[in-house]
Amino acid sequence: MADVTVIGTGVVGSAVVRACVDSGLEVSVWNRTPERSERLAGRDVYLHATAAEAIEDSPIVLLCLLNYEITHAVLDEAAADLSGRLVVQHASGIPDDVAPLRKRVEVAGGRYLEAAILNHPDAIGTEDCFAVYGGAAEDFKELAGVTEALSGKQVRLGADPGYAKAYHVVSRAFYYAFVNGFLECSAIAESMGVPLNDFAESVPLYDPGFQNTIGVGLGLIARRDYTFEQAPLTSHLDVLNNLAGVAERAGIEQSYLAVMRERVLRAMEQGYRREHVAVLTEQFRSRRMAVHNR
Ligand SMILES: NC(=O)c1ccc[n+]([C@@H]2O[C@H](COP(=O)([O-])OP(=O)(O)OC[C@H]3O[C@@H](n4cnc5c(N)ncnc54)[C@H](OP(=O)(O)O)[C@@H]3O)[C@@H](O)[C@H]2O)c1
Repeated sequence: MADVTVIGTGVVGSAVVRACVDSGLEVSVWNRTPERSERLAGRDVYLHATAAEAIEDSPIVLLCLLNYEITHAVLDEAAADLSGRLVVQHASGIPDDVAPLRKRVEVAGGRYLEAAILNHPDAIGTEDCFAVYGGAAEDFKELAGVTEALSGKQVRLGADPGYAKAYHVVSRAFYYAFVNGFLECSAIAESMGVPLNDFAESVPLYDPGFQNTIGVGLGLIARRDYTFEQAPLTSHLDVLNNLAGVAERAGIEQSYLAVMRERVLRAMEQGYRREHVAVLTEQFRSRRMAVHNR
């Protein structure tokens, strides 16, 4: 018997296997494409020809497949005995995906935890890695040998695995906002003849401003009072007017800069002037309420 099983040895699953082995665990693995798991072969890694064999070879099963649909398909085909096993889902998805998978695990006699690794796979197994979990406290405790192998910081967010998934969705939304910002920035830099490397040198300077926007924004959004003396909405409009034009000339379709300008304009139509830009969240809130009341 191994200590833990990893189902799916793509980028994330492979990093999970390596981190577990590095911390002294014995790992059983299965992957649809055997060549991808064969690369991991070595002391303390046991390769299996079927998912069922791999699952039945340890008390803890880490699911690292692409998504929930594939996870269900793999579990269907395996029809493995989950009784007493702790099954931990790592794939991305949305909260609605969680209950059906949890149910199928529990019906098959297993216990279920939801996991989200919030970093790049390179960070898995390092102090920098941050992972969140949802599920029973005793199951999370039982998983400690694995969670500590994978991440420097691991947090159980509560008993509801769906909440951990919601947290992950929020973190992904933040990540893609950052990626989109970077991509549009790259296009603008190229169109204006600013070498990306020159621009990149200044990036660390933005960090305090970025932290400040979040810190201030959190408080204002919680209070729903957006009064703030620095950087009022009116000052954003001029900048965004320029940037929306720049983005268009840089070949960016549907730029977030143009979208931001529209939001600021709408807020000003509603009478906001000197407020912090966080006031724009009110637009999302009122649309959400309208949809909810429909
Ligand atoms: N990469 C990241 O930065 C990152 C970070 C955190 C979380 N995640 C999440 O972790 C999950 C895995 O991501 P990844 O980067 O490891 O993806 P990946 O490298 O593409 O690996 C996908 C895994 O799913 C398997 N798979 C795909 N289709 C399948 C099918 N029809 N039947 C059976 N197995 C199938 C693949 O097997 P084959 O090798 O046979 O194709 C592989 O094991 C995703 O939900 C992702 O969003 C990713």
